[in-house]
Amino acid sequence: MRNNWWKKAVIYQVYPKSFCDSNADGIGDLNGIKSKLPYLKELGVDAIWLSPIYLSPQVDNGYDVQDYYKIDPMFGTNEEMYALIERAHEMGIKVIMDFVANHTSDQAYWFQESRKSRTNPYSDYYIWRDAGPNGEAPNNWGSNFGGSAWTWDETRQQYYLHYYASEQPDLNWENPKVRQAIYDVMKFWKEKGVDGWRLDVITSISKDTKFPDNPQPLTTSNQQNGPRMHEFLHELNKNVFTPYDMMTVGEAPASKAADASLLVDPKREELDMVFTFEHMHIDRKENDINGRWALQKPNFVELKSILSEWQKQLRDRGWNALYFENHDRARVISRWGNDTKYRYESATAFATVLHGLQGTPFIYQGEEIGMTNADYSLADYDDIELKGNYQFFVKEQKTISEADFLKAVGKISRDHARTPMQWNVSKNAGFSEATPWLKVNSNYKEINVDADRLSTKSIFKYYQKLIQLRHREEILTKGSYELLLADHPSLFVYQRKLKDKTWLVVANLTDTTQTFNVSEFIKGDYKFILKNYAKPESSPTLRPFEAYIIEY
Ligand code: NOJ
Repeated sequence: MRNNWWKKAVIYQVYPKSFCDSNADGIGDLNGIKSKLPYLKELGVDAIWLSPIYLSPQVDNGYDVQDYYKIDPMFGTNEEMYALIERAHEMGIKVIMDFVANHTSDQAYWFQESRKSRTNPYSDYYIWRDAGPNGEAPNNWGSNFGGSAWTWDETRQQYYLHYYASEQPDLNWENPKVRQAIYDVMKFWKEKGVDGWRLDVITSISKDTKFPDNPQPLTTSNQQNGPRMHEFLHELNKNVFTPYDMMTVGEAPASKAADASLLVDPKREELDMVFTFEHMHIDRKENDINGRWALQKPNFVELKSILSEWQKQLRDRGWNALYFENHDRARVISRWGNDTKYRYESATAFATVLHGLQGTPFIYQGEEIGMTNADYSLADYDDIELKGNYQFFVKEQKTISEADFLKAVGKISRDHARTPMQWNVSKNAGFSEATPWLKVNSNYKEINVDADRLSTKSIFKYYQKLIQLRHREEILTKGSYELLLADHPSLFVYQRKLKDKTWLVVANLTDTTQTFNVSEFIKGDYKFILKNYAKPESSPTLRPFEAYIIEY
């Protein structure tokens, strides 16, 4: 029997490199995380998810794993990881690790062996193909970081496939030995006490082994939901997740609600939850050649429609993972809200609509104090995706001007979420004694944990209340969901209902006052469960980013 603890839980994502540096080398580490467990306990979260901490050359900040059994010395030792797990458990906090199962680092032993010849024991651990008649790549698939998804290997005299950087070769899941090797790693960490997995791009593990060209060259439309994906996930579940009772949340970039209802249907025994990208694309132009860099104004009608569809499709048939931020997403208040005048109001408004839904909310480090996008110039950014895409779209393809690219970077670069955590006003925001690996956001003197907690408008305290509600109120986990005002471009209003209790979750997602008359929806008395303006207005309006939950 599985213990579905995660249904009532709130999970906090730690990006270890940028959370807390205990040994003054400018890089966050495991002992740093351990020292902040009391802070996380006070916030009230039930589990932490750590982005990858395995041995890695850090080409993609740890999403290029060299050795799944070993903690990277820059984060600490294996013993320190075991100690962190133990301490977290003593404090009632579960630990989720990030598993990068689609690819490894090119420095991994498996790949080093695999590239040696076509006949060695690891030769079939990766996806190797001969060159075309003129030495060209086997097909026109593109990599997420720009350019071809194939790299020529001189030693083996073949191309290998990589959906990300050339230093991140894709594993060959068709090979049962690869699958077994992955189960073994998972069991190893289970023995050390790990409670579950966030599974990196797990919907990419199965490839179309006919390797047909994409309709557009050098694009990535081939990468998701391959022919054997469900089969592989089911096998993983039967070998590890169910017998060892491990929670799973899979990254599922292209999943729509209908796909997810298969992936997370408990009867099918695949995953517990998935992270979709669908709702995060409401500010992206559709089918634009410049992909994620082609931005538009966020479309909140679409946001509501997508989230509502997910609520509907997964009701009684799976479970939602709820998020607006993670290490690949810029800060939501800088992207869709207001990170200056209405920073508190917009941070709490987005939090209210997210945490009011059915599912498991994920908080990304710094979101709980309203951290904002970085104020970087191009040279300050570090991310391989940005650099590869700049080279590809601006310099080679010339499909976007440098100015437009940089404008998009300022809004959505992954580095905005990766700036060091802002703890206090001391040097480097209290993150590290040494110069941090990535520049601290220069607003840390105003925006930091200490300042937030002393403020009368504390975002942290608002999150505490949301988490307490999640633990206490069954209506949040079990109640029905109904969207109201579906076509309203600025307001997000929905109803939750359980037995004789009804809640209305209301938020104005803009910086202008909007007309909204509660009495049109509610006859009789009501009480406030939570609100982000001290005094709710009696007039029929909602102030900028005003949000509340009422019961009636
Ligand atoms: C998704 C991860 O979240 C991202 O950070 C990484 O670059 C890619 N997968 C490749 O592992």
